[in-house]
Amino acid sequence: MSERDIEAGPTRRPEVPPPHVATDAEVPTETIFRIRDLDFFYGSYRAIRDVHMDVAGNQITAMIGPSGCGKSTFIRCLNRMNDLIPGTRVDGSIDYHGQDLYGPDVDAIEVRRRIGMVFQKPNPFPKSIYDNVAFGPRVNGHKVASMDDLVEESLRKAALWDEVKDKIKKSAFSLSGGQQQRLCIARCIAVKPEVILMDEPCSALDPLATNRIEELMIELKRDYTIVIVTHNMQQAARVSDRTAFFTAEVSNEGRERTGVLVEFDRTEKIFTAPTDRRTEDYITGRFG
Ligand SMILES: Nc1ncnc2c1ncn2[C@@H]1O[C@H](COP(=O)(O)OP(=O)(O)O)[C@@H](O)[C@H]1O
Ligand SMILES: [Mg+2]
Repeated sequence: MSERDIEAGPTRRPEVPPPHVATDAEVPTETIFRIRDLDFFYGSYRAIRDVHMDVAGNQITAMIGPSGCGKSTFIRCLNRMNDLIPGTRVDGSIDYHGQDLYGPDVDAIEVRRRIGMVFQKPNPFPKSIYDNVAFGPRVNGHKVASMDDLVEESLRKAALWDEVKDKIKKSAFSLSGGQQQRLCIARCIAVKPEVILMDEPCSALDPLATNRIEELMIELKRDYTIVIVTHNMQQAARVSDRTAFFTAEVSNEGRERTGVLVEFDRTEKIFTAPTDRRTEDYITGRFG
């Protein structure tokens, strides 16, 4: 698709940040995602509206906010995972490296390879540790010089190699929860993504395993752009460079709840000097 087509996209509206979004969020590195006026619908229900955000490369961007405010919906928009849910619709735009992610020529499967995802509950396949990691490259038909090397490299990057190198042919289910989650990260890395999306990746893990994943995320941002949804504000404060606070606005006499982005800024600013009263109430525990 040409630049002209992008400019002429039918859903593109004028570039004015909605008033409820703090604009002090200039992006210091390359912009990977440029999100404008994003609405998302499940059927006729609008789950999120007017999201305006730039996601920077080689950073960790965290999404926080009360349950049901649309964090998972939003993160799934970033790799077109929501396409798999019938009756859903995206309005507004998400550009990925300047290209319309929802453009007519874009292959959603390729999108999901380049923008990988790790879920709340570790979900290894009922296969060996080795086959879990090799699965993606095999399915994609990637010609790899040595699958053994790719598996080892991916497991090393996911900080799991030393723990599994002697039992690589054992079932993935023989691993602990934290190890399974790192295996899922290795499986994601094996197809050479650029972005890793993580939706509450630690919420099923104990504090030690959580700590291990947090350390891993910080290592990984050298090579990848990471977007994480977390329920845990301390986690956002510990690992992320930028934090987006979402909330649900109630309208229509309580009948409608729509997720909105309240504030997006450097993590330190969000947690020490938020601009919006709603952010402050949330991070100080007065709400949510
Ligand atoms: N598959 C779906 N179909 C219809 N509504 C959904 C679906 N998934 C989520 N929702 C609704 O969208 C809203 C946002 O949900 P979600 O994105 O899961 O929020 P969060 O991750 O912040 O808890 C909620 O009202 C939820 O009920
Ligand atoms: Mg969620």
